[in-house]
Amino acid sequence: MIRGADVIVLATPVYFTDLSSDLKAAIERFFSFFTTDYVTAEVKSRLAPGKRLVLIQTQGEDSTHYGGLLARYATSFKLLGIDEVSLIRASSVREAGAVAQLPEVWERVDAVVEALT
Ligand SMILES: Cc1cc2nc3c(=O)[nH]c(=O)nc-3n(C[C@H](O)[C@H](O)[C@H](O)COP(=O)(O)O)c2cc1C
Repeated sequence: MIRGADVIVLATPVYFTDLSSDLKAAIERFFSFFTTDYVTAEVKSRLAPGKRLVLIQTQGEDSTHYGGLLARYATSFKLLGIDEVSLIRASSVREAGAVAQLPEVWERVDAVVEALT
């Protein structure tokens, strides 16, 4: 599915200050998209270039925390030909449905979708 996708959408809660272990495990499998000689090769990715990626991140703490999680992975994503990454983040959410009360999150969703289409 990733091979055929124009846009890859990932989602995670923040658990213990980081991405969930499920998402981290999935990202680690992106290693299979590198060519076997990626260390020295000019073309390092087996994926078609120009894919874009969105991370949807929810967290219990406020927005002053964890704004940089996606950036930590963006360098590797870029090597795989995923040039553009966007973050949609809902902060201070702990209860199911809390995101519905945060209009700024939905405005960000609209802005990211508009930029991608
Ligand atoms: C095991 C666990 C660890 C968590 N650790 C953090 C954390 O370090 N920082 C934070 O802001 N929120 C933390 N939270 C709150 C979740 O990020 C928040 O409730 C999440 O947005 C909702 O995800 P969930 O309902 O799918 O678990 C944690 C929640 C759980 C269950």
